[in-house]
Amino acid sequence: MKCPRQTRRSLLLTTLATGAFLAGRFAAAQEDQPGSDERPQKGDLLVLSEAEHEGKIIKAGDLKLGEPPLHAWPKDSKTSVIRKGSRLNEILVLRLDPGEMDEETRSRSADGIVAYSAICTHTGCSVTGWLKSETGDKDVLKCFCHNSEFNPREGAQVVFGPAPRRLAALPLALADGSLTIAARFVGKVGAQQPG
Ligand code: FES
Repeated sequence: MKCPRQTRRSLLLTTLATGAFLAGRFAAAQEDQPGSDERPQKGDLLVLSEAEHEGKIIKAGDLKLGEPPLHAWPKDSKTSVIRKGSRLNEILVLRLDPGEMDEETRSRSADGIVAYSAICTHTGCSVTGWLKSETGDKDVLKCFCHNSEFNPREGAQVVFGPAPRRLAALPLALADGSLTIAARFVGKVGAQQPG
């Protein structure tokens, strides 16, 4: 006869395995949905892409001045499809002091919040750093693959490292406190394709 503790343990393991399997199926289904690999469109919402809070709509109040960027996906506001089928849709969202932005950056911002492609223009790594620049005393967006730095106050122009171009910018607007995308990417996303 089976030990009851062993039976409970087997049941728990089966439940966990089933849960993980279903979560995997759900994630795969999300990525297969029509529109999931299309670039961000006007009217899309922004949702968190990080594991624990993935899919949560980003509100202006979620972003604090000086804090590191939030990592986001665009989400079709009509179909609710999260456009996570392409890593070229990875977005960085952060709040800056509008007084420190150049005019173009300010014109693309909403309530001091700006958004950029998270894909480095050098060889396409994800930009994950937010720390003091090698060349100044302000925090900048940094790609740790080869240490390129981008200044988000000036349209994410390159201020250090080998990246050949600024990060693509994503104009924002606000609707009922939620951030929405006001226009498609300005600039090319990611690294230059060879040839
Ligand atoms: S890929 Fe980002 S610096 Fe090289």
